[in-house]
Amino acid sequence: MSGSGIQAMKLHDVVALDELESGKIRSFSVGGRSVVLVRDGEAVYALAGRCPHKDAPMEQGAFCHTAEGAGVIVCPWHKAVFDVADGSLKEPVALDSLQSFPVELRDGRVWVGEVPHKRSVPEAKQQNEHVLILGAGAAGVTAAVTLRQEGFAGTITMVTEEKDLPYDRTALSKTVLLGDGSSARAPALRDENYYQVHDIHIVHACLRSFDPMTKMATLTNDVELFGDHVLIATGSVPRALNIPGDHLEGVFALHREHDAEVIAARVQDDHAVTIIGAGFVGLEVASLLRQRGVGVTVVTPTNIPLERHLGREIGIRLRQLHEENGVAFVSDAHAVKIYGEQRAEGVELSDGMRLPAAFILFGAGVVPASEPVMGLERDDEGAIIVDERMQAAPGVYAAGDVSATRYGEKVYRIEHWRHAQAQGRQAALSMMGKTSRLPMPWFWTQQFGKKIEVLGWGEAFDSVRLKGDIRGFHFLATYMQGGKAVAVAGAGYAAELARAAVDLEAFLNEEP
Ligand SMILES: Cc1cc2nc3c(=O)[nH]c(=O)nc-3n(C[C@H](O)[C@H](O)[C@H](O)COP(=O)(O)OP(=O)(O)OC[C@H]3O[C@@H](n4cnc5c(N)ncnc54)[C@H](O)[C@@H]3O)c2cc1C
Ligand code: FES
Repeated sequence: MSGSGIQAMKLHDVVALDELESGKIRSFSVGGRSVVLVRDGEAVYALAGRCPHKDAPMEQGAFCHTAEGAGVIVCPWHKAVFDVADGSLKEPVALDSLQSFPVELRDGRVWVGEVPHKRSVPEAKQQNEHVLILGAGAAGVTAAVTLRQEGFAGTITMVTEEKDLPYDRTALSKTVLLGDGSSARAPALRDENYYQVHDIHIVHACLRSFDPMTKMATLTNDVELFGDHVLIATGSVPRALNIPGDHLEGVFALHREHDAEVIAARVQDDHAVTIIGAGFVGLEVASLLRQRGVGVTVVTPTNIPLERHLGREIGIRLRQLHEENGVAFVSDAHAVKIYGEQRAEGVELSDGMRLPAAFILFGAGVVPASEPVMGLERDDEGAIIVDERMQAAPGVYAAGDVSATRYGEKVYRIEHWRHAQAQGRQAALSMMGKTSRLPMPWFWTQQFGKKIEVLGWGEAFDSVRLKGDIRGFHFLATYMQGGKAVAVAGAGYAAELARAAVDLEAFLNEEP
């Protein structure tokens, strides 16, 4: 093809092939767009330079191969996985595919088109079927989006008891509490137009009961809904404190957007707040409230926060980080009562110590929101046990915090955003007779601007191999049990963890 022909196809001469190293991601501007090029042997792929989820620079992610040998590009921030050949979405957190662009190799140079490939529309399937999704959070919305992306052409109804459009719950403890009551809103997962265009019917009502035998759901407004395929995706609810005074006004848990609105509106910057529990959400809330100037005391039954999840050294560093920013810890302490007459005035500890506070927040973990569901096999906390296809009974699926997945002899309950999405996607694919592999669970936490990412099934560990600088929050930690690696955590190693998220075993074999 002549140079003028290439011009007519709106192709741009971007770089010499020799300058692209196989396996590396390079960023370029093509016709004013940010594009990344990935060379895999003699093939070169061009994809959008920014992740469709929150605009992460894909150049900082990773290119690698799955255990099955497929080339994928992974987002550095929340580990969305895309097929390198056409940008199609393989794993969340993103809900959309990455745009891909035409590439031509001419005389040792790489030419890239500025108009993205048109994505083919999947063949319409299952027109006469109805999918009923109970719950509209990470798992529910991802299931609905996946069904439409895969060509499901039947009806989709999604039930949520929340008043607004489905939103990003993880933002509640990352940014939302920084706003006041009127601006304390989490980003919507999709705008209203999306649900209209894709004919996804959202019912704002509370589920009263669901019978898996008849696949019939009854809402508290007495409406009855039937699904050919039903996904239970009602998530979880905060575990109750169960101490005297826990019902008093001024005692909150942060779980829903409405909680964030109330907390943001009521807590003033010069207030003193006591947080009971030093789990991930409790510590994120401590970090946000301190950034507003609120005085924060954390009451924790242990001395080192998150030691069970992250190990001793990282737990100690996190506690230091909080203390450097003015958070006070009352360690090895048990709250036995919330005292106050009309409203909460403080927390009483088992040794009789009283900690006065304007507000009390508690984070004692969550329990599955499975109460309205009748029957089905459960774990000891009531989570619905599903197989690797997310199926709990014929035509009945469960995904996200409400579910526990059986793998061989073991049953895992994972309460993470990305995993709930992956399970929602898996359930949708199962409803369409497709199969896929569930990724290894990954989650992140952000406290005082420091991000830690964790990959693993939440297994116990007996030792930790550390590499890097914990003080500077630039480290990789490998968690070992009986000499075998069971999890990896890291800060400042986004690209490495992106590779690990795709194939942990291969990553561990490469890492010294
Ligand atoms: C403040 C906060 C911060 C978090 N941060 C992180 C993080 O940084 N990283 C991470 O990996 N995970 C994080 N998580 C956990 C993560 O949000 C959950 O694991 C994830 O949302 C689970 O998804 P899900 O779809 O199962 O449930 P959800 O996203 O909770 O959605 C369940 C939906 O079902 C609805 N519902 C429940 N019961 C009924 C009913 N009876 N009738 C009608 N509707 C009902 C709920 O209103 C909700 O909309 C955080 C959780 C919280 C609360
Ligand atoms: S920015 Fe890429 S998955 Fe979030």
